[in-house]
Amino acid sequence: MEMTGEHKKHVAVFAFPFASHPPLLLSVVRRLASAAPTVVFSFFSTHRTNQTLFPDTSCCGNIVSYDIHDGLPEGYLLPGKLHEDVNLFLAVAEEEFKRGVEAAEKDIGMKISCLMVDAFLWFSADLADELNVPWVAFWTAGACSLSTHFYTDLIRQKYAQIKGSTGVEDEVTNLIPGLLTVRLGDIQSGIIFGDLKSPFATMAHKMAGVLPRATAIFINSFQELDPDLTKNLSSVFNNFLSIGPFNLVSKQKSQSKADEFSCISWLENKKPGSVAYISFGTVCIPPPHELVAIAEALEETKTSFLWSLKKDSQKHLPSGFLERTAINGLGKVVPWAPQVQVLEHCAIGVFVTHGGWNSVLESIASGVPMICRPFYGDQPINAWMVERVWGIAARVEGGSFTKLGTCRALDSVLSIDGSSKGVKERTKALKDLAHKAVEPNGSSYRNFKTLVDVVVGGASS
Ligand SMILES: *[C@@H]1O[C@H](CO)[C@@H](O)[C@H](O)[C@H]1NC(C)=O
Ligand SMILES: *[C@@H]1O[C@H](CO)[C@@H](O)[C@H](O)[C@H]1NC(C)=O
Ligand SMILES: *[C@@H]1O[C@H](CO)[C@@H](O)[C@H](O)[C@H]1NC(C)=O
Repeated sequence: MEMTGEHKKHVAVFAFPFASHPPLLLSVVRRLASAAPTVVFSFFSTHRTNQTLFPDTSCCGNIVSYDIHDGLPEGYLLPGKLHEDVNLFLAVAEEEFKRGVEAAEKDIGMKISCLMVDAFLWFSADLADELNVPWVAFWTAGACSLSTHFYTDLIRQKYAQIKGSTGVEDEVTNLIPGLLTVRLGDIQSGIIFGDLKSPFATMAHKMAGVLPRATAIFINSFQELDPDLTKNLSSVFNNFLSIGPFNLVSKQKSQSKADEFSCISWLENKKPGSVAYISFGTVCIPPPHELVAIAEALEETKTSFLWSLKKDSQKHLPSGFLERTAINGLGKVVPWAPQVQVLEHCAIGVFVTHGGWNSVLESIASGVPMICRPFYGDQPINAWMVERVWGIAARVEGGSFTKLGTCRALDSVLSIDGSSKGVKERTKALKDLAHKAVEPNGSSYRNFKTLVDVVVGGASS
């Protein structure tokens, strides 16, 4: 790597090499790299993620990718059990990143001047101290789930007083600074419910302890979405920066992938606001009886739908469903859909989703109300926000899909009598705020400028 002459600074970036974490972090690095062309960014991730992030070597200008070991033993089969993979990785991560930085400094011929990391990699705060450089952390989800992690000790204290009352999961209370209400059962597992000592819960708790040491913390959101949470987190963190929605500011590579199943052309002749788009992300799959309930509800209510469902799950659909709905034009089932383009299409009237943060934010940015069926992690608290705080979704009664519950939820969002008016208006208002945030001098625009200053100092163009 012959970069010494032209490059003035070297920023190291550590990815958490699972799920959608690396591509999200990389999308921010790309923005920074184009704002600061004289800075070189070394991007550390595992070989497996490197291959999908950097399919061709010549693409990246001042971003250089480095592989670190994923911690999997030689000959380890069946990678993909997320829990196990994460633990194996975490066992070697600190040493691996440290060794990687030394190698990259030699290779590039320059010491690093900033360390930018996925917030889960809490131990890297010490490395930044050792190297005497700013430590900048990225939280890949919303302000709500960051708050619950950050205030874990406080939440556990307050919760101790109400614990034991019946139906405690359904209790709605004010446990989190900046959030007036939350249903206790929707707080992430590992904070007050579930295994509080699991490797994941421990990692999140340690992260909470070091985050105030960060020079900046940035998230994929816009501050107008969560003014009170933002205010509170800004009082405890240095430079708490909402710089999203990302899908409005950087065209994601995967989204520009061709629409290979012709979703967009299928939507063209549908009535505006009439189609349900259904997708549960890349990891979550509802159990077969819920897939059946959704299918029956769609046929019962004659709701037009575009359903992104992996091939091997399609076999669980009711017999004849695929054929019937294809022939009568009611719906289309595809193994993959270009989600952002689909959501932006005016035919879409509701997004049936697992409530993953990216999906939630993409839906808001496109002005599409939701029906959330959360599974785990931050999905339940995201769904709480969507339904009860922002009021832009219908609830799935009982927390899982039944035919009747799904019919009601679809009706309440898609109905053309006045009953869905409030949801639609609130969704539209948030969409407008999201778009304003990323315009020149909008809040996310200004926050990104601050991030550039923190990460590259005076080296931006
Ligand atoms: C990452 O992947 C690219 C493309 O597959 C490859 O050229 C590059 O050498 C890889 N990086 C490392 C450090 O292996
Ligand atoms: C945020 O919440 C914490 C904990 O309750 C509190 O100490 C702090 O004063 C709050 N900050 C603001 C600005 O409300
Ligand atoms: C940008 O926004 C800030 C804060 O709202 C305001 O003080 C400033 O005058 C604005 N600048 C321009 C050029 O509009």
